[in-house]
Amino acid sequence: MQNDFKNVYISTYGCQMNVNDSERMYSLLEMQNYQEVKQADQADLIIINSCSIREKPVHKVRSEAGHYQKLKKQNKSLRVGVGGCVGQQEKQQLLKDIPYLDFVFGPDNIDDLPNILDKLENDGRLSKAKFKHQEPYHITNMVRNPGVATFVNITKGCDNFCTFCIVPFTRGRLRSRPLKDLIKDINALSSRGVKEVTLLGQNVNSYMSDEGSDFPALLKTLCEDTPIERIRYVTSHPKDFNQDLVAVLAKYRSKLCDYIHLPVQSGSTEVLRRMNRVYTRQEYLDKIAMIKEAIPGVSLSTDIICGFPGETEQDFIDTMTLAELVEYETMYAFSYSPRPFTKAARYGDQIDEKVSKERLKRLLTFHKEQAFELAKRYEGRVLEVLVESLDKRSSKGVDKPRVMGRSTQNKLVHFDGDESLIGQTVKVKITETAPINFNGERVFET
Ligand code: SAH
Ligand code: SF4
Ligand code: F3S
Repeated sequence: MQNDFKNVYISTYGCQMNVNDSERMYSLLEMQNYQEVKQADQADLIIINSCSIREKPVHKVRSEAGHYQKLKKQNKSLRVGVGGCVGQQEKQQLLKDIPYLDFVFGPDNIDDLPNILDKLENDGRLSKAKFKHQEPYHITNMVRNPGVATFVNITKGCDNFCTFCIVPFTRGRLRSRPLKDLIKDINALSSRGVKEVTLLGQNVNSYMSDEGSDFPALLKTLCEDTPIERIRYVTSHPKDFNQDLVAVLAKYRSKLCDYIHLPVQSGSTEVLRRMNRVYTRQEYLDKIAMIKEAIPGVSLSTDIICGFPGETEQDFIDTMTLAELVEYETMYAFSYSPRPFTKAARYGDQIDEKVSKERLKRLLTFHKEQAFELAKRYEGRVLEVLVESLDKRSSKGVDKPRVMGRSTQNKLVHFDGDESLIGQTVKVKITETAPINFNGERVFET
């Protein structure tokens, strides 16, 4: 029998937003008779879902596209496109620079993908990277196999214009999805067996629906009016992390996980001012103190940039001491990368890359040691673990099956158990720790 399906391969870079966008693309393309393949050389359609947050992933677009030129010579009907933030940023320029590229589109044009593919066949190469400023922001969550834990977009875009960041230029203005759409999506996911959702946005706690619900109100509604068992959210901006939000987190502790990703970017008030982060070192520390008091044992995580223009050795030391004080269990740290359109790229006092990289290395070395020490505090504790899957690490050469799941603090916990536990929340006593992965033993209540 003839196979009418076409094959699609999507290569995904960047943040969780892009991972979710790729999933939307696969879902939309399935409706157009495409099926996912895991290897580019089997595809009739290849999409690079790109990221432009730093220079490195931008370079990857061109090098990866270069590879596909060879495949196009072997398969004349192969179509190659670039989506995501580099698509939005470079638009027509990418088509000019890469003659064998067929199409370019932005993160706001994903729903147009079937149209884009039709147009491509009729009219030839095209770029469709326009923001849609429709109000309100309506999409339907599309995940093919959501499993136990999945992601739900709540906002798109960002209005903060931190001076180092390209996101407001690639994702456009902040838009929030209507509360009723979110309730509908989460109810639908629950009925498909999902127990945990992570609410996604560049700045989730700026959420404001057209009906006037802010982020604390959204969390409260989801906790009270949907059956979802656990809720996480990324990323929060410190300026919007207020008392109302902390009160809701404390009140609905059983559902709202005690893990908070609160990017500080720098520990120096002067650097924060030039980054346009609109908080000082002290204000950030005061918010951390408020969070720790309301949610004892909370696990904190952050993003940090080393070598921002004008960063002195003392500014950097301020970042190190802040990290020491806050006790981050997880840290994502980067060397500053100047981005097009951004204010900081035009600042005069750019730091030599060697200095930024050396500071980054010192920070990461410090963090690694601290993270091991902080993880040890979990030894002997009993954590609530939502089992997500069988443990792939132990599938070979081990007689007993093992499972893995996440604790509310976002630790990956591995322990003896079988498939029947998937989707259940169980108590596990921690026996061995590293910063992210823990081993444990299930405890049974008497
Ligand atoms: N919306 C989130 C961050 C999104 S980008 C927030 O406001 O925190 C993820 C991280 O990439 C940022 O937190 C920052 O640490 C890093 N980043 C962004 N632009 C960068 C740049 N130009 N150079 C280096 N790191 C950058
Ligand atoms: Fe970028 Fe700042 Fe917006 Fe985060 S809050 S996406 S760092 S502009
Ligand atoms: Fe990258 Fe765009 Fe996400 S720049 S980090 S893919 S919002």
